[in-house]
Amino acid sequence: MSSTAAPRRKAPTVPLLRARKVRNGDDPLVMVTAYDAPGARVADEAGVDLILVGDSLAMVVLGYDDTLQVTVDDIAHHTAAVARAKPTPLVVADLPWLSYHVSVEDTVRNAATLIRAGATAVKLEGGSKRLRMIEALIDAEIPVMGHLGLTPQSVHAMGGFKVQGKDSAAAMQLVSDAKALAHAGCFSIVLEGVPTEVARMVTDAVDVPTIGIGAGPGCDGQVLVYHDVLGIEDRITPKFVRRYAEQKADAVTAMSSYADDVRTGAFPGPDESYHLSSDVAETLGLYGSDAG
Ligand code: KIV
Repeated sequence: MSSTAAPRRKAPTVPLLRARKVRNGDDPLVMVTAYDAPGARVADEAGVDLILVGDSLAMVVLGYDDTLQVTVDDIAHHTAAVARAKPTPLVVADLPWLSYHVSVEDTVRNAATLIRAGATAVKLEGGSKRLRMIEALIDAEIPVMGHLGLTPQSVHAMGGFKVQGKDSAAAMQLVSDAKALAHAGCFSIVLEGVPTEVARMVTDAVDVPTIGIGAGPGCDGQVLVYHDVLGIEDRITPKFVRRYAEQKADAVTAMSSYADDVRTGAFPGPDESYHLSSDVAETLGLYGSDAG
């Protein structure tokens, strides 16, 4: 089987990633979501640094309207599929809503389920109010990625999927939350749906890398959802998404050609069919058949 795979890279570790800051001359980090083994192979062969098994799974794969419906078992199932591809990028799994809100014990057990499924780190949403849970996870040797700004698990509390940090108090709160997360030991912080200027302030304020989505170019890295990058998800295109392929449109075209070929009898053709050997065909009295 031929492959265009890039040569095997050095696996990024949590300590290596924690040190990556653009202001120190490092390249920006590249993170993309993936939810299964084929997606993990694509991300791996493309040379990304991190794969996120995001709770966006709910919306882009499982058909829900928000991320609140996925469970720890759902994320673990898909994390295991990603991990089976043995990708070089570091695998981060999202802790779903309510899996880190009830008790420290629950939080650590739920995160451990995701680590045992194959993740190296977990991601959770929220600022200073999550510190107790973050400290417990780090105490249990589980690396944590933070997530601030437009946190989709707070969709109802925010009154919709809305850009955050738009006034000065909210911007300062984001800076203070990011400092608290970094101080608690988060090895990186996703900044979602915040003004570019605020993302820069946060990035300048912390020594760990920020990874933006809808947060402008001033972060230490970027993350996008797999289905958005490849144009598989074409129902909603947020302003911050850039599509690098039109795979949904290509798939519909390909599938229509297949349907046409079946209906016209053009598929399967001789190349896609098995045949008896002429001996067996003769024994069966199939003279004149196209056996052979
Ligand atoms: O679940 C997800 O895909 C995410 C990214 C958008 C950061 O959390």
